[in-house]
Amino acid sequence: MILVVSTLHEPSVNRVVRHLEDRGAPWARINTEEFPLLRAGRIALGGAEPHGVLDTPRGAVDTRAVTAVWMRRASRPAVPRRFSAKDKAFVADEANAFLNGFLDLVSGRFVNPREAERRARKIPQLELARRCGLSVPRTLVTNDADAVRAFAAAACGPVVFKPLAGVGSNGHDFARDLGDRFGEAVEVEPQSPSADPDAPAELVFSQILTPERAAHLDALRYAPAIFQDYVEKAFDVRVTYVAGRVFACRIHSQEADDTAVDFRRMALRERIEDVGHALFEPPVPLREGIERFMQAAGLVFGCLDFVETPDGAFVFLEVNPSGQWLWVEQLTGAPISEAVADALCS
Ligand SMILES: Nc1ncnc2c1ncn2[C@@H]1O[C@H](COP(=O)(O)OP(=O)(O)O)[C@@H](O)[C@H]1O
Ligand SMILES: [Mg+2]
Repeated sequence: MILVVSTLHEPSVNRVVRHLEDRGAPWARINTEEFPLLRAGRIALGGAEPHGVLDTPRGAVDTRAVTAVWMRRASRPAVPRRFSAKDKAFVADEANAFLNGFLDLVSGRFVNPREAERRARKIPQLELARRCGLSVPRTLVTNDADAVRAFAAAACGPVVFKPLAGVGSNGHDFARDLGDRFGEAVEVEPQSPSADPDAPAELVFSQILTPERAAHLDALRYAPAIFQDYVEKAFDVRVTYVAGRVFACRIHSQEADDTAVDFRRMALRERIEDVGHALFEPPVPLREGIERFMQAAGLVFGCLDFVETPDGAFVFLEVNPSGQWLWVEQLTGAPISEAVADALCS
């Protein structure tokens, strides 16, 4: 039995599930908003066979039967709107503790292991990548404007800055879409405290530290950020790593001004397919560096961002352990969803 732990609107789940069905692999999905209000769970301890059972739309799932768990962007539980803030927090913590304890009783493979996903934060991953032989940009993380000025003065070229923790783009209030399924008004707290459920999903893009922007550096006292040497690009490279398989895609971000500094600005266009995407065979040293890094990070799955320089070097920027790949699959035909299904079945 393969258990998918996800959230109500996660488009990648349907794609992967289709491949599980092609293989005849039994699967079930729990959308974490639905526990505990809509789904019951039972964990029995103190006997010879400690185990948990969780009701899902496809029937009850027993931890003893689960061979693999796909952790795909779990969310927080839906909580009645009428509850006080204190009660909402209590419910969320209790639900979370139950689900984590349930998953602790599973001995199958986790994609990704939960501790590895928690550890995969920006600062330690840059240092881990360096130790694994990947090249990384000179980096300063700070809220100290003077330190940034010194960093920029020592740079050979431009400096880029970007957020450290990202933005709470997970601010979508799923409960609004649920209508009367819960039988009462509920809400789902955003994953990140910064996410405003009334705002559309947002990104803060990477930007060059120009003299005009440098004039606002004192605003750093409100929030630290990452500063890096700007790596000159031939291409942005998105590597999707799935259990030893490497799907490397060049993104032709340098052909237009809007995508040159941050390729994700293509999302603001009407047609993202106008930005070239091409699969390529990564050179062996890059492939080996990625493998070493992913092993050391304990990650089975990850979306890695690199810059490919005009002289063909690859510079590591980050790994997102639950990154999105559907657009790469759609634009290039890379069989990533199938590889995820393979990883869950093996
Ligand atoms: N040091 C850098 N040099 C050049 N471009 C960069 C650098 N850091 C980030 N970028 C660009 O910004 C975009 C997002 O980069 P990334 O490091 O993945 O940021 P985030 O953590 O916000 O996703 C990519 O287009 C990437 O090429
Ligand atoms: Mg990124």
